[in-house]
Amino acid sequence: MDIKQLYKKYSLNTYTRLGPVFLKGKGSFLWDQNRRRYLDLFPGWGVSILGHSHPRLAKIIARQAKCLIHLPNNLFSVEQALLAKKIVDKSFPAKVFFANSGAEAVEGAVKLSRLFGKGSRYEVITMKNSFHGRTFGALSATGQKKYKEVFKPLVPGFKEARFNDFCDFKRKVTAKTAAVMLELIQGEGGVNVADKDYVQKLYAYCKAKNILLIIDEVQTGMARTGKLFCYQNYGIMPDIMILSKGLGAGVPISAIVVSNRISGLIKPGMHASTFGGSPLICRVCREVFDIIEMDGIILKTVKSGKYLNERLQALKSKFSFIKQIRIKGLMAGIELDIESLPVFKKCLEKKLIVNSTHGNVIRIMPALNIEQNNLTQGIDIFEEALKRF
Ligand SMILES: Cc1ncc(COP(=O)(O)O)c(C=O)c1O
Repeated sequence: MDIKQLYKKYSLNTYTRLGPVFLKGKGSFLWDQNRRRYLDLFPGWGVSILGHSHPRLAKIIARQAKCLIHLPNNLFSVEQALLAKKIVDKSFPAKVFFANSGAEAVEGAVKLSRLFGKGSRYEVITMKNSFHGRTFGALSATGQKKYKEVFKPLVPGFKEARFNDFCDFKRKVTAKTAAVMLELIQGEGGVNVADKDYVQKLYAYCKAKNILLIIDEVQTGMARTGKLFCYQNYGIMPDIMILSKGLGAGVPISAIVVSNRISGLIKPGMHASTFGGSPLICRVCREVFDIIEMDGIILKTVKSGKYLNERLQALKSKFSFIKQIRIKGLMAGIELDIESLPVFKKCLEKKLIVNSTHGNVIRIMPALNIEQNNLTQGIDIFEEALKRF
């Protein structure tokens, strides 16, 4: 059966798909239909933090599926309650709402900021170059024209400030500002890391002016940056934290973590999600937390991140078209003087999966439990690919 033909005939044409058809994954490797093996340094678009088909996750999915898969949210579920407790224990005093995707959680956070503003304050400041998702509210929050232009008119009430520019942020604040939403590392925007000083000033300012600080940790959460949550690198505490991708490590889930200062604003009937926080998915997420703890994933991330940084810096001194390396933990962006898509394609030819974003940035976000020799192998292949440019 020609799978690519089936895609052409039956799938809505929303993605640029390249490369072979994949059948199987294990750890940091994928196998295509012809049994060729690919080393994946961008597993699941930042989702598969424990690699592909982690055996403990596979086991727990099967076990929980036999026990209870889905419950409506008007009934009590053991697994949902335990996961909410786990997230709060690991972050800050809060209450949690479960949804299914990053964008859906962003929508919920924006709704909360509208409640907080009580009608007179409704504006949410987001950052240029940010990415918050494709649903209408999340798209309106996203600071990149290319995703939005053809869908206008968008949802009103969003304003853009320059990333890492505290003065510009202050200029954008008005009497109508209810919240600011920030990625501490802009992923889709090219792996731009927020400065500590900037974030701390923004945090203090928001506190003083009673503006909500929403931290979008869809990509940075779950140990990716060497702390369980990226905000913990900055000595701040968000009013709302948004989690998704790595939380389920491959199963679809997102969470809005709402600090107790404002969690009372939401009342029954104001927000809901049919699938959000099912017993099956929540059980898997709890296992993800356990694996992170028991397998020392945070330490591994810090160690592997240090090694990755060293190797990438060495590549920078070797290839003049590498402009900058931006990295925190195992989230790395390699900014090039040339287009990054041909580099991505060359890597794919060499059976290495990386990501091309923002036109000239190669993004690498390996599984956090990647073996050192696999990371070495991946960077060696990357280096070979770069030699062609
Ligand atoms: C920071 C951030 N927020 C939100 C989203 C949207 O997530 P989803 O695609 O699950 O809706 C993404 C997706 O990449 C993201 O990186």
